[in-house]
Amino acid sequence: MKTTSKKLLSVLLAVLMLATTAIPSFAMSDIAWDLVWEGEDAEAGIIMFVGSDETERNFSWYSDTQSEPYVKIAKDVLMLSSSTFKGTSVAAPDGDYANKVTVSGLEEGTTYFYQCVSGDYTSAVYSFKTESGTDFSAMYVTDVHITQNDDTKENSLKETSYRFSETYEAALSQNSDISLILSTGDQATEGLESEYKAYTASPLFKSVSISTAIGNHDRKGVAYKTFTNMPNEDTETSVSSYVGKDYWFVKGDVLFLIMDSNNGNGADHAAFIERAIEANPDVKWRVMVCHHDLYSGRIPHRESENKLLRMIWGPIADEYGIDLVLLGHSHYYTVTNVLYNNKNVTDFAPEMVDPAGTVYMVSCSLGRPRDDEEIGLNEWVGFDYLTENATYNVLDFTKDSITVNSYELGEDEPFNSYTITKTTNNGGHQETGALQSLWNGFVRGCGKIYALFNNIGVYSDLKEDGYDVDFFDCVFGK
Ligand SMILES: [Fe+2]
Ligand SMILES: [Fe+2]
Repeated sequence: MKTTSKKLLSVLLAVLMLATTAIPSFAMSDIAWDLVWEGEDAEAGIIMFVGSDETERNFSWYSDTQSEPYVKIAKDVLMLSSSTFKGTSVAAPDGDYANKVTVSGLEEGTTYFYQCVSGDYTSAVYSFKTESGTDFSAMYVTDVHITQNDDTKENSLKETSYRFSETYEAALSQNSDISLILSTGDQATEGLESEYKAYTASPLFKSVSISTAIGNHDRKGVAYKTFTNMPNEDTETSVSSYVGKDYWFVKGDVLFLIMDSNNGNGADHAAFIERAIEANPDVKWRVMVCHHDLYSGRIPHRESENKLLRMIWGPIADEYGIDLVLLGHSHYYTVTNVLYNNKNVTDFAPEMVDPAGTVYMVSCSLGRPRDDEEIGLNEWVGFDYLTENATYNVLDFTKDSITVNSYELGEDEPFNSYTITKTTNNGGHQETGALQSLWNGFVRGCGKIYALFNNIGVYSDLKEDGYDVDFFDCVFGK
């Protein structure tokens, strides 16, 4: 594309974004999507990840040359009084450079305009608004599966990217106040840089914070490592995945714990959560986000693996008083009863007040919904729903409640709605007994040893696929 055309497109995108700020649910036409797809900013793959809290945002984008990247940010659309935040540029596996910048010191309830700059590249002007107080809304989706190597039109890179954008448009039409996207793994299908760029392509995503959990498909390659720019990553773990780390952030009155469930090292996962809670002792809600479906039993041949995962993650959720766990992987929609110690405590209900345990939810895949194979169902599931359609969820957080509304793409009415309410900071959570703690420590230690051997397998898979990775970096997750 010629430089003049790129500049024109940049201006057009800026206008589109400003229109989006005013009318969040604008529908993107095929022509608009073609323009977006061919644009310089889609090629750069700009994404605005969550920051440590509402005063920060973490940016990431690609460039073909290395330079000191920066984000220019201002409260006025003409960017007359802008500030500059500098970052770092690291080599990405496909020959590009990944630019990462953290913007801090943001004020509550304020609209900001920004541009990403690296070398001779300057993005269009985008905008976002920070929240104030405890109330906010999020879209939760899973298994977006942006796909590079599928020749069918409906699953092409461009189409899977569009479906993600279209789903967010639908969510905005339900609730125009959404300010966070929670994406619980398998963002990409092959773990390729091209897929992560396509994941970011929609201009709508430039105005919303995104938090991704790593899925098993995201570690098929190594691009996820350079794509992400997450706050509060676990730097103390001794055995983790090569491409993903646990991290946390706070929004409103919620501590989000984003965990790598590919990594069976329960000992380090638990220690990380403990540190995150110590750093945020007064935050009322705890939401854990990870990829693997733990309880549904929808795919019976995975149940031996799930049994091991439940031994790790169930007691972690119990011990640290996790209110809600958001999952993916199976591509089937289920919500559990309230669980404690891997047992039903109370039945799932549209209203759950001070539950004495944790609710685990799996959303249907956005990119690859399943309803036609291996439909087992475990006794822990309190609500299940089968659909061939893409599915998304709108979560409304307040000081005292989390309300979930689940939709099929194209439908106006939710097919499931429920609310969890807590009347005190602790709600109905129970203490873990001394004997149980001892057993948990033993299981988590075994998980650490398992993770070491599992990482050796990942190393040999990556080498087989032609990736230039260091053995020790891969096994210990450096
Ligand atoms: Fe998946
Ligand atoms: Fe998966």
